[in-house]
Amino acid sequence: MDMQNLLDDIVGTIKPHLGQGEVAGYIPELGAVGADHFGISVATREGEVFASGDSEMAFSIQSISKVFALALVLADDGDRIWKRVFREPSGNPFNSLVQLEHEDGIPRNPFINAGALVVTDRLLSISENPSTAVRDLLRQESGNDSLVVDAVVADSEARHSNRNKSLAHFLASCGNLDNPVDDVLDAYISQCSLAMSCTDLALASRFLASNGMRGDGTALLSPPQTKRINAVMLTCGTYDAAGEFAYRVGLPGKSGVGGGIIAVVPNNCTVCVWSPGLGRSGNSVAGMAALDEFTTRTGLSIF
Ligand code: DON
Repeated sequence: MDMQNLLDDIVGTIKPHLGQGEVAGYIPELGAVGADHFGISVATREGEVFASGDSEMAFSIQSISKVFALALVLADDGDRIWKRVFREPSGNPFNSLVQLEHEDGIPRNPFINAGALVVTDRLLSISENPSTAVRDLLRQESGNDSLVVDAVVADSEARHSNRNKSLAHFLASCGNLDNPVDDVLDAYISQCSLAMSCTDLALASRFLASNGMRGDGTALLSPPQTKRINAVMLTCGTYDAAGEFAYRVGLPGKSGVGGGIIAVVPNNCTVCVWSPGLGRSGNSVAGMAALDEFTTRTGLSIF
């Protein structure tokens, strides 16, 4: 199979899906992005890249950042985080409040907003450079030193974050935040507002397809930790559509409301797709169709 031909072909195949779904509007600046973009990049374990469409265009990574924050916390702090966050699918929207009260302020998993706020809180406590920890990891692994927080997107989210403020204050009321609510929210919003391309993200995710090994050959995570983070991505990475994602794509994946999705073929490669139109659960419609096409045609699925 010729990977480049396949990706070029997928760009043509998904055209009917472009413009489907809604571009995220609850963070106004995300709504300013055109709906008909589509990009796809594949990075092999060895760092070879294949890409097509708008693969080099930077977009807001949003919740994809939650994977990297979790990886840093697991790397520095081991399993302690699992006392403060469960690892079960929520079956609810990513910003839902209902389950959190029933479950005494322990979020269902690290990828819903409540869980990511707890992970970010821990990162603030343990990191030497908490304000740049996620960005620095992403710069190192993607090789893109000019990768930055999009300040306009961050400001837009900060001004429209009543839902996340509610979640954070509720977590604090349950004793599940160690740092001030505003500090946790600021750090969370800036990691969500990092701007990256499909190629940047495919390269930066390679440790998930390489038993935790970074691009420079050192270990970020152990092989068991890498297995577990991929398992949580499979079951929780696309929220209340995780069942549909496993059915159609069959890979660990993580989406963001900027329209990006990363997917991991363990011991082989990573794939990043981007298209801003989102389905009901906040996952890119064309991105999901493209990953379905990719795994169905290559057989590169875990099933
Ligand atoms: O907190 C939020 O709502 C956004 N910064 C991130 C949400 C997100 O990307 C959910 N993913 N599909």
